[in-house]
Amino acid sequence: MLTLIILLVLIAGGIGLIYRHDITQTDHTILRNYPLVGHFRYFAETWGDYMRQYQYLPNWAERPFNRLDRSWVYRSAKGVSNLVSFGSETAPAFAFRNAPFPILDEEKKGFPGKTIGIAEGPGASALPYHATSYFNISGMSYGALSSAAVLALSRGAKQAGIWMATGEGGLSRYHLEGGADIVMQIGTAKYGVRDADGNLSDDRLREVASHPQVRMFEVKLAQGAKPGKGGILPGAKVSAEIAAIRGIPEGQDSISPNRHRDIGNVAELGAFVNRVRSVTGRPVGVKIVAGQPEFLDEWFADCVANPTHCPDYIAVDGGEGGTGAAPAALADYVGMPITQALPLVVAARARHGLAERIRLISSGKLITPDKVAWALCMGADFVVSARGFMFSLGCIQAMKCGSGFCPTGVTAVDPKLIAGLAATDKSVRVRRYAERVVEEVAIIAHSCGLEDPSGFNASHVTQIERGVGGFRNSGVG
Ligand SMILES: Cc1cc2nc3c(=O)[nH]c(=O)nc-3n(C[C@H](O)[C@H](O)[C@H](O)COP(=O)(O)O)c2cc1C
Repeated sequence: MLTLIILLVLIAGGIGLIYRHDITQTDHTILRNYPLVGHFRYFAETWGDYMRQYQYLPNWAERPFNRLDRSWVYRSAKGVSNLVSFGSETAPAFAFRNAPFPILDEEKKGFPGKTIGIAEGPGASALPYHATSYFNISGMSYGALSSAAVLALSRGAKQAGIWMATGEGGLSRYHLEGGADIVMQIGTAKYGVRDADGNLSDDRLREVASHPQVRMFEVKLAQGAKPGKGGILPGAKVSAEIAAIRGIPEGQDSISPNRHRDIGNVAELGAFVNRVRSVTGRPVGVKIVAGQPEFLDEWFADCVANPTHCPDYIAVDGGEGGTGAAPAALADYVGMPITQALPLVVAARARHGLAERIRLISSGKLITPDKVAWALCMGADFVVSARGFMFSLGCIQAMKCGSGFCPTGVTAVDPKLIAGLAATDKSVRVRRYAERVVEEVAIIAHSCGLEDPSGFNASHVTQIERGVGGFRNSGVG
């Protein structure tokens, strides 16, 4: 009895002290106004992100990805059926024009693949790359992603026969160990291919190209989440291994310049592309975010006048793209969305007669078959996704990528959290997700009367205007 009384007194005393602290402190209005109970607000704020994955919001209301799209990826990755019952919950912005007589199962064909780079003539690569899948993995650095995540993606990509891009953080042993075809990205800090002064090194380029798995190089001008800003890897995530791969000090913020210092105009861009291709023998692409349209005409005119300057592909990232860390102003407001950017680049490429020479890769929340098929219809040769594949690894959209404390281990640095991500099991999910996307894009193609998705063009898709989209488009805004 005495113990109980002492316990109650201690609890009451503790509560009293918290109450006194709350009403006397001046930092938090909520606590002053609502002592004790106000703490629940901070608790919810701190832990709310981790609870997102339980259904507190309507299926279509979550951002950046709604529950419907995320569930589609989760179920595909797990190999669970994602047939819908009762009706559609989606309010689509576009619809595919189905054919009156769709393709029969026995008439279906596989995607024939497309070659990136040319074997002869000015701007030729020693080793053009024949890509067999139109859906591949977009660049996310080792550092932004954990070692286990990179390994799982590489293994899954190998199983699915798709490529994976490194992101700007350089080539790690985890990329290579999984066996995937690799696109080596060269960001503005040139991590992984730089000399002691931070300049592009031909020797380092040759060293990276000596791995047969490295099939292409990609010069990153910008990514959708932060055009005009370089990569940001907080010091807490710069381990000894990551520092060694990047060639930077351990534990310090890894901030890339906001532009390639040696690429300040179209001619310098062309010369850079030509140099990387000549030294490595690999096709070279350029990743951009579409902004000012005049740039495209100037760039493509230069490619026509100087064919050695011509990139083998352009990766167009929408302003809605993801990131490990970015200023909100850039993530929210800078860069055109992919729905505007892709048609703009497709049209400019056609104007200069480069449709056969330069392949287009599209990204920006294209994580489900409908959006992938839309991009193919609009003129993309390939689609890549970053966050779709993160979801396949188990990401719950906790929005903690920059902190190192990702609860699912995908972007964690805490070894305990990383250990929770079993690379072998997750690689199977990566494969299943990629395969399901390809399978369902093909279903849309067959419904449109095409034997395979390589026949998609703009006539197969139509925009749905808000308010006139029929019952399917009503209700959910
Ligand atoms: C965690 C994370 C890290 C990323 N790192 C890079 C990078 O190093 N280089 C790059 O060009 N893009 C990077 N991106 C952007 C993606 O490659 C991609 O362009 C963008 O997220 C759009 O694709 P998504 O909507 O399918 O995610 C990153 C994205 C995420 C989510």
